[in-house]
Amino acid sequence: MGLLRTLLIGRSSGLRSRICQRLRGAKAPPASPDRGTSGTPGENAGWGARPPAAEPALGLSPEAPKDVTPPSGYEVVLHKDALPAGRVVEIIIGGTAIAVANVAGTFYACTNTCPHAGGPLGEGSLQGSLLTCPYHGWIYDLIDGSCKTNPDIVLTMYDVVVEKDAVCVRI
Ligand code: FES
Repeated sequence: MGLLRTLLIGRSSGLRSRICQRLRGAKAPPASPDRGTSGTPGENAGWGARPPAAEPALGLSPEAPKDVTPPSGYEVVLHKDALPAGRVVEIIIGGTAIAVANVAGTFYACTNTCPHAGGPLGEGSLQGSLLTCPYHGWIYDLIDGSCKTNPDIVLTMYDVVVEKDAVCVRI
């Protein structure tokens, strides 16, 4: 039953579960300390900071700068200091779920949906530029979107710029 629930609505602290909880008006559950999300953004950290088009920030601090005008076509997704190096987070922006990662100080953004079977990549683990999907372990290189597990697959990547303190993504 636990596996079926995970496949249908994701993990209890995952993005889909948090969306359901928010729709029900419930408070998001505290992060599980064994998953390295105790109050700081990171693997499986969840919500992103909130620019006008993004979902509300839950746990990412500092919040996205509100005084930054992103380049044309870009949206502010989070404060550059809200996501430490080596961490990845899910963010919904303009109705699209993306995963944003900090690879040694350089930010990358890709679809949050794993091409294999829809796993939430923003809940994956990051080692260097390699992002591992939490569902079945497919590995993607965020430098170029290549899939190390299946060379026929290329991850959808989004352009990222850092404007002042704001990480901006072009969806
Ligand atoms: S859903 Fe990502 S590896 Fe299967």
